[in-house]
Amino acid sequence: MNLNSKIKEYASVTEDAIKRYINGMEGNETLKKAMLYSVTAGGKRLRSSMVLAACEMLGGKIEEALPLACALETIHTYSLIHDDLPALDNDDLRRGKPSNHKVFGEAMAILAGDGLLSTAFEMMVEGYVKCGIGHDGYVKAMRYIARAIGARGMVSGQACDIENETNQVFTEEMLKHIHSNKTGALIKASVVSGALAANAKDSDVAALEEFGEQYGLLFQITDDILDFEGDEAVLGKSTGKDSKSNKLTYVTLFGAARAHELAGIAAENAKKAVSRIDGSEFFAELVDHTIGRNR
Ligand code: IPE
Ligand code: IPE
Ligand code: MG
Ligand code: MG
Ligand code: MG
Repeated sequence: MNLNSKIKEYASVTEDAIKRYINGMEGNETLKKAMLYSVTAGGKRLRSSMVLAACEMLGGKIEEALPLACALETIHTYSLIHDDLPALDNDDLRRGKPSNHKVFGEAMAILAGDGLLSTAFEMMVEGYVKCGIGHDGYVKAMRYIARAIGARGMVSGQACDIENETNQVFTEEMLKHIHSNKTGALIKASVVSGALAANAKDSDVAALEEFGEQYGLLFQITDDILDFEGDEAVLGKSTGKDSKSNKLTYVTLFGAARAHELAGIAAENAKKAVSRIDGSEFFAELVDHTIGRNR
């Protein structure tokens, strides 16, 4: 299997559907422009690809999982727009372009984030109405996503991340808590929702949930490493910010060498979890790809 071409295929279906959906909305034109600016700026589309790959691997219909994939991608993009705001990480570069607030101003960037988050719920609910009435797995997937992204998941992780810039609790426990919420929760929701949309059996959902936990950790450790040793031009976002902002990361707590080792351990654990499912090459290859990523 060629991982890159598979991701390209999933990404193009997802991106087309999101663009069509937002373009078809009535509403403020500047807001729509701001939403589309970030959503089409060229992210890696890993979360939406994981939704579709999990669904396909477990025998589900891609069309049924597509609204969930679109939702995960618009939620992710909203989280990045807000993450870059001066009140949070204050970053001027995202996906190789000026951050949303640098182009549209802070107020419109906040609203673009709000717009993308609510659009995600519209798309999910409409997806359910269209092909899922009575589709129990789909409802469970929506519930899983809703819980993962909010005040008991991603938003809580972001709150801990920001609070810790001044509170400075530099422990492994706090680090794991922040990473598994701010990043792991959404990644876990991607693989689990894809599986649920396929009405997968409980043991497969559990294996993917464990994969999501470990892969989420791997993903954020490599993000921390790239902030330290990555190339801004390739990465498409600024580097060297974490230590300046007193962020608690795998590099600021353990140093780069140990961070690489811990990424390797999370990668092994992720692969082990997904090896319990037949036909899981996509996810095993994704792990290898992520450990060596430069963006
Ligand atoms: C960036 O995520 C935010 C983190 C959780 C580290 P990605 O690296 O997946 O960002 P895009 O979507 O490719 O821009
Ligand atoms: C961001 O973590 C996590 C979310 C947006 C939820 P980071 O702040 O490390 O992400 P980057 O490095 O800005 O992409
Ligand atoms: Mg941040
Ligand atoms: Mg940031
Ligand atoms: Mg980062």
